[in-house]
Amino acid sequence: VRRILVIGIGAGDPAYMTVQAVDALRRADVVFELARDTEDLTALRREISAAHHVPARVVVIAEPHRDREAADYARAVQKWRDARADAWEAAIAGELDEGATGAFLVWGDPSLYDSTIAVLAELRDRGRVTFTTEVIPGVSSLHALTARHGITLNRVAGAVQITTGRRLAEHGLPDGVADVAVMLDGRCAFIGISEPGLEIFWGAYLGTPDEVLISGPLAEVAAEIVRVRAEARERRGWVMDTYLLRRAAE
Ligand SMILES: C[S@@+](CC[C@H](N)C(=O)[O-])C[C@H]1O[C@@H](n2cnc3c(N)ncnc32)[C@H](O)[C@@H]1O
Repeated sequence: VRRILVIGIGAGDPAYMTVQAVDALRRADVVFELARDTEDLTALRREISAAHHVPARVVVIAEPHRDREAADYARAVQKWRDARADAWEAAIAGELDEGATGAFLVWGDPSLYDSTIAVLAELRDRGRVTFTTEVIPGVSSLHALTARHGITLNRVAGAVQITTGRRLAEHGLPDGVADVAVMLDGRCAFIGISEPGLEIFWGAYLGTPDEVLISGPLAEVAAEIVRVRAEARERRGWVMDTYLLRRAAE
């Protein structure tokens, strides 16, 4: 039977690769690479593999076109998901021999805002190509963020919510949690949050030579973050950042 390894490679620094992840990568006969990433991110992934001398064959899976303007958005998304699952299915069936091991390298940790595990589960449900799956955890960008700021994600016995910039912009800060970690925020949703006493711990390009960290009272540092982020984005053409919003202790 075929084996698929879903390997968390850490969110930036090649040294974030765990020993388990390196071992898993070395077991792979084929590494499946998705063509959707920016060139920079693909280059970073390759650098991480190269840093660990991984000899596997690389098979690129083309991502189907996504119609973001479609009138029936839900239907368009479903169509795109089906086409993507078809492409993965064809790649696994065509490029991975029975008994061989394939790997998907997932940025950060595979359990956090990543669809690899879900797509593979869907393929197993379809049942047209059979394989087992093993997930290797990785250092997520949230853990890189808290480590670089030298903070904990939660406070004593407190609750944390992990959410997206879009949800923060639409619904504001959730009730009942002391800390809110925000990912996938292309529009600096923190600007719209005016609750007094908030602190922000922000980081961009964590674990890479371009890493930037800013922290402080949200009201005081928000404008600086917006400016630094815009400059970095201008320079590199893309930006990945994440942050923690911390409510004042009760
Ligand atoms: C699709 S999610 C994938 C998250 C990933 N699985 C993880 O464990 O970090 C992408 C988001 O993760 C965050 N992110 C990933 N890598 C990052 C990095 N090196 N520095 C800052 N944020 C990062 C950003 O919020 C970005 O929008």
